[in-house]
Amino acid sequence: MILSIETSCDETAAALVEREEGGVRVVSSVVSSQIALHAPFGGVVPALAAREHAKNIVPVIETALREANISANHIEAIAVTGGPGLSPALRIGIMAGKTLSYLMEKPLLPIHHIEGHIYANTILPSQASPHSSEFHFPLLALVVSGGHTELVLVRTHFAYEILGATEDDAAGEAFDKVAKMLGLPYPGGPEIARRAEIFRALPEKERSPAPEFPRPMIDSGDFRFSFSGLKTAVLYFLKKNVANKESDHFIEAVSFAFEEAVLETLLAKTRLALETFQPATLTVVGGVSANTELRRRMRALTQTQFPRTHFMIPELRYSLDNAAMIGAAALFHFERMSDTHKDRARALWKTLGADPNLPLGAYEECLATS
Ligand code: KG4
Ligand code: ZN
Repeated sequence: MILSIETSCDETAAALVEREEGGVRVVSSVVSSQIALHAPFGGVVPALAAREHAKNIVPVIETALREANISANHIEAIAVTGGPGLSPALRIGIMAGKTLSYLMEKPLLPIHHIEGHIYANTILPSQASPHSSEFHFPLLALVVSGGHTELVLVRTHFAYEILGATEDDAAGEAFDKVAKMLGLPYPGGPEIARRAEIFRALPEKERSPAPEFPRPMIDSGDFRFSFSGLKTAVLYFLKKNVANKESDHFIEAVSFAFEEAVLETLLAKTRLALETFQPATLTVVGGVSANTELRRRMRALTQTQFPRTHFMIPELRYSLDNAAMIGAAALFHFERMSDTHKDRARALWKTLGADPNLPLGAYEECLATS
């Protein structure tokens, strides 16, 4: 069993996970959200996030232990997000992980946040299901979070090739910024999605024509993304149509048009990667993958056009930031680590630091599992 900790952004999270036939079982998973704290600022304030993590980390870990109802000697290792993320926020989780590793004399496994999002797929469904959650490689992952938008080809466990990434804003960042322009509360992603859904459900005659926004780099023939031009297009549209702002369903129409532009771009690039690499599995991970319309279209794309590719997506609660996904990735590392590497990991509490810009796969040398 592994105790895992995640504090890279605005959720304080701890979990207990264990390996089971076919995947990872979550014994307990606790997430304390700071959304209400940051909402008045329209975004996450790093120093406030760190202070709140410091306040909540011990109670969150205690709750995870209590809910798991296990004694501490069942814990074989501690896992913690080492990056990427907000440095002051990361440091609180790392400090907690280091302290526990030292006191319990257990290996400390640093985990990359995006690797955690990818391994959220290995978590077994809460209801009994005949499906295994083991990976079939090569696996193509569309990573869409607040800080990342990239297509990653995973050839085997922990072997990542970044096919392309955003040149500027991440998809989630664009959702949050456009929501702010529309006067919608933070975090903007779910709010834009909700407004877009209202627009889709309107009867045809009540729908004013929605604006057409650009789909940046959609035809670039590679796997690069760009969302800042789209964001600017929305900004200009809002400036030009200031008089219409109060008209019926104006915000819904703009939310819909913006979401369509993002989804079509993500779909087009993913389709190109599916054609090019014919992966065994496609997955969509990161906070934006909580978007219902994105989940629906990605599933439909795979089923109708790439029937030989298996579509995997984490349960909603494991798509958003949580610690169970960090523990899941750690379990796969742990079972591949030699005794020497476990010994080294037992001493890592002395040196582990936060890396806000950590590249994917950077911990391979230290975990030495590939
Ligand atoms: O992975 P995540 O929870 O945190 C990071 O690692 O960044 O992703 C957060 C991002 C935010 O930008 C948020 O607006 C977006 O995910 N998001 C959504 C939805 N739910 C969360 N974007 C679009 N539609 C959603 N339903
Ligand atoms: Zn995340």
